[in-house]
Amino acid sequence: MKERVLTGYRPTGKLHLGHWFGNLQNMLALQDQYQAFYFVADWHALTSEWQNPSDIARYTEEMVLDWVAAGLDPDKCVIYRQSDIVQVSELLLYLSMVTPVSWLERTPSYKEQQQQMSDKDLSNLGFFLYPALQTADIVIMDAARVPVGEDQLPHLELGREIVRRFNATYQAGESGLVEPKALLASSLGQAKDAAGARVPGTDGRKMSKSYGNAIFISDTADEIRKKAMGFMTDPARKQLTDPGDPEVCPLHQVHKLIADEKKIADWETCCRAASCGCVPHKQDFAEDLVAYLADFQARRAELDALPGFAREVLQAGAEKARPIAEATIKRCRDLVGL
Ligand code: ADP
Ligand code: TRP
Repeated sequence: MKERVLTGYRPTGKLHLGHWFGNLQNMLALQDQYQAFYFVADWHALTSEWQNPSDIARYTEEMVLDWVAAGLDPDKCVIYRQSDIVQVSELLLYLSMVTPVSWLERTPSYKEQQQQMSDKDLSNLGFFLYPALQTADIVIMDAARVPVGEDQLPHLELGREIVRRFNATYQAGESGLVEPKALLASSLGQAKDAAGARVPGTDGRKMSKSYGNAIFISDTADEIRKKAMGFMTDPARKQLTDPGDPEVCPLHQVHKLIADEKKIADWETCCRAASCGCVPHKQDFAEDLVAYLADFQARRAELDALPGFAREVLQAGAEKARPIAEATIKRCRDLVGL
């Protein structure tokens, strides 16, 4: 029996290079080696978008099209929508019994996100429950491995603690909930190096749709060229005559993910020797990226032209995922003794 992996994305926007390299390449490789479960976390999107949820359904379908165009094969992996598996909410309820409030309060992402997304009201209980809901997503499918970016590790660790507490409280033994482990892109060597675990955006911070620093995989060639010209380079390299350090250059870190080794080595040498400027590097990066994304964008346009495709994928996925969720809930009820 292949081990089961599971991961989810919140449908709160378009996919960017951070998703593509931090996660999606990983998901592609895993669909061959594991029983892979990939879901669209629309309830998680609701935790922050509850006042204005009108885009969630559209982004959900777009995400499915992006995934399939990127190479996820609905015959190899199970692609489904979180809210189609209502058993997740029942499991969240059981998990919430064994989870001390203080564990959720100390999750680093909780206060961080409240500060960063200050335009949204995140003082609601739903957002507070975010990591517990994430634990329910994973545990409901008995997933052993969770491919995520580095930023998700605290959620995973919390999930493991919740599972341990549940199993200990109800003396679960053999039928206990499965304790999930993270699978980082960098540890798998899927991205060309560890940079894949945290892809920087155009301003050097982690690429994120909320920071306005993202290059989206659906960006047109012109958008890519424009964003590339604004990409941050080594901040210490103020003039052409200053030698640069490619290790701290965000542009170079992203270029590394798409260009061949020889080209990357050449840019490193000339940057260190101050014999080339950052502008031609940006231009070269932009053309490489346009070419890199061309196949994906062509497939994506084909899927767009198939009406109902995303909905069919989600429906078929829910039919495969639901029996597993029902079995987990039955085990939980038995363990709790209800
Ligand atoms: P965003 O920050 O744009 O809102 P999400 O929180 O929706 O992105 O991220 C979805 C998944 O993609 C997570 O597993 C996350 O770790 C990964 N991810 C997002 N941005 C990056 C990035 N810049 N580098 C690496 N992985 C990323
Ligand atoms: N919290 C994840 C993110 O922000 C999304 C997510 C929800 C998830 N449930 C999950 C990821 C379960 C992995 C497993 O990206």
